Amino acid sequence: MSNDPRQILVTSALPYANGSIHLGHLVEYIQTDIWVRYQRMQGHEAIYVCADDAHGTPIMLRAQQEGITPEALIERTGHEHRADFADFQIAFDNYHSTHSPENRALAETIYHRLNEAGHIHRRTIKQAYDPIKEMFLPDRFIKGECPRCGAADQYGDSCEVCGATYAPTELKNAVSAISGATPIEKESEHYFFALGDFEAMLRKWTRGEHTQSEIANKLDEWFETGLQDWDISRDAPYFGFEIPDAPGKYFYVWLDAPIGYMASFKHYCDTHPWLDFDAWWGKDSKHELYHFIGKDIAYFHTLFWPAMLHGSDFRTPTAVFCHGFLTVNGQKMSKSRGTFITARAYLQHLNPAYLRYYYAAKLGNGIEDIDLNLEDFLQRVNSDLVGKVVNIASRCAGFINKKYDGRLSDTVADPGLFDTFAAAREPIAALFENREYSHAVREIMALADQANQYIDAHKPWVLAKQAGKEQEVQDVCSVGLNLFRVLVTYLKPILPMLAEESEQFLNIEPLRWEDAATALTAHTINTFKPLMTRVEKDHIDAMVEASRENLQPAPDTGAPAATACNIEPVAEMIEFDDFARVDLRIARIVKAEHVKGADKLLQLTLDIGTETRNVFAGIKSAYAPEDLEGKLTVMVVNLQPRKMRFGVSEGMVLAAGPGGKDLWILHPDDGAEPGMRIK
Ligand code: MSP
Ligand code: ZN
Repeated sequence: MSNDPRQILVTSALPYANGSIHLGHLVEYIQTDIWVRYQRMQGHEAIYVCADDAHGTPIMLRAQQEGITPEALIERTGHEHRADFADFQIAFDNYHSTHSPENRALAETIYHRLNEAGHIHRRTIKQAYDPIKEMFLPDRFIKGECPRCGAADQYGDSCEVCGATYAPTELKNAVSAISGATPIEKESEHYFFALGDFEAMLRKWTRGEHTQSEIANKLDEWFETGLQDWDISRDAPYFGFEIPDAPGKYFYVWLDAPIGYMASFKHYCDTHPWLDFDAWWGKDSKHELYHFIGKDIAYFHTLFWPAMLHGSDFRTPTAVFCHGFLTVNGQKMSKSRGTFITARAYLQHLNPAYLRYYYAAKLGNGIEDIDLNLEDFLQRVNSDLVGKVVNIASRCAGFINKKYDGRLSDTVADPGLFDTFAAAREPIAALFENREYSHAVREIMALADQANQYIDAHKPWVLAKQAGKEQEVQDVCSVGLNLFRVLVTYLKPILPMLAEESEQFLNIEPLRWEDAATALTAHTINTFKPLMTRVEKDHIDAMVEASRENLQPAPDTGAPAATACNIEPVAEMIEFDDFARVDLRIARIVKAEHVKGADKLLQLTLDIGTETRNVFAGIKSAYAPEDLEGKLTVMVVNLQPRKMRFGVSEGMVLAAGPGGKDLWILHPDDGAEPGMRIK
């Protein structure tokens, strides 16, 4: 390996600003951070930038829901994300936002250059439009029945039941997930990036080892299917940057998101004036540029992004590194199982070092998914970190501190063993460089085993009781601490806090990779303090419990019967007057019918004395329609009619019970009459 310092710019994908960082995200940020820290230990200039991805419809709608501006939402999330990352020791040099002046300027520059070179086309297209909310609907905000298998409540792009993918126009009985309205088709002019213009360039780029082989294969498939124009505009209302000279048209979030990498770096340059932005991003840059991303966003990073950069005279990435997805206990993270764990929930119960170590022990350089098995997590951290690594220091340091005034021996008593440790620095370095962390961890733990065997064989605690063995005790413990120091060096990219505390206790300068080559002799250390405690099962259980959400069985379209299915904390108190405004009447169920395509709903025709009402009620689990006809129930008659996928619901029936089969409505023979007001 050449020792010339390299100039390396590294990014992780920009997390969306409408949600919390969770353990899935952390696979990526921890993977990247380890790599960056490793490069820095080698003496390279590694700059690590990231930002919040602040634009797009979901962020706009989320802010509306909360009754705040999108700016306030992204500001708040930005603080949360930064704190989460800092507490996991993710060492960004700069953390910015895509909603920033730098990003606007760069997005406009790139757009202008692409436009001038003829790569932007305009075309009028028809899209689903929500006439109530008065906005175009992204696919994800349209729901309906799958055109293939008929499953209800599927999103506009794909079916979660049968896996079919389709256009939202193909959904049956589609509704807007925002307002419940039936979408109409509406025309609008859109701006497209002509990805096909870059096919030759992209084919060449792909073959140039800029992606992993699995991704290169995927790219070949995409070339086969043909590179489609990419729609880069969205109509108002939208939270993003308006397209220059196109009032009411905004850049699609995915256009300015990757530009956010450049913008964050640009922002960093402003406070580090010796950095020359063009030397890093210009077409002829000799510096290295790496993007760490999840496999779900490979298309954006290996096709659109290099094409956009190339087409606007910027450099393309040296490599895009994809990783797989996190599962917890072998399954997709789940709120009901308590395995959808946010960064903050984890931090409230466990030491971040444990997770950094566990992910490193599982991560290779491929795109396979990785599993966080909580049982294995506990075993692994306790046996490797606490039982093997930290144990070496605690077994040796006491003797050195107490008997030798903290002084290590003048020479290394077992130079052969020390050399074995030192010589491992090249192969382990190569493993870090290639992102084969799990392999690196195996090598490091094999060395830790050797160190423990050495101490077991020499038994300083026995020697310490024998007369005339003082030198030997000091020598054995000095070897032990030197081996520990080398292990900490190799683990430092993964466990920066452990390394820092060890540096403090060993009384040494921050460890660099090459420090593993030489031993510490005739050196005075500080007093040893315990470096890491065991993972407790109770803490893991508490974290899972705190993450568990008791989900109500989902109503068909958000118009539930008022059942009390799960025990929930009492909601905010209301005044009697608020309650008195609810007009409750006895209603007779004159007709009850199945609703096609709905698993939980029945359609009821209710006689309330003065008129009949049509109501959809989520009580199918408990009643067959024929059981209901002729019976009486209680109904909220002054509820605003609500448009549902199957028709308009003009009120709500009240039922009580734990749910499922046990859901009770009133019975006929209790002297009640339709229309009677309940007081
Ligand atoms: N905002 C986009 C990225 C724009 S980059 C110019 C985005 N954000 S995200 O918040 O959904 O995801 C951020 C990163 O975390 C992505 O690389 C994504 O693949 C990764 N992960 C999100 N959930 C994950 C798991 N469950 N497991 C592993 N990585 C995951 O995509
Ligand atoms: Zn389907």
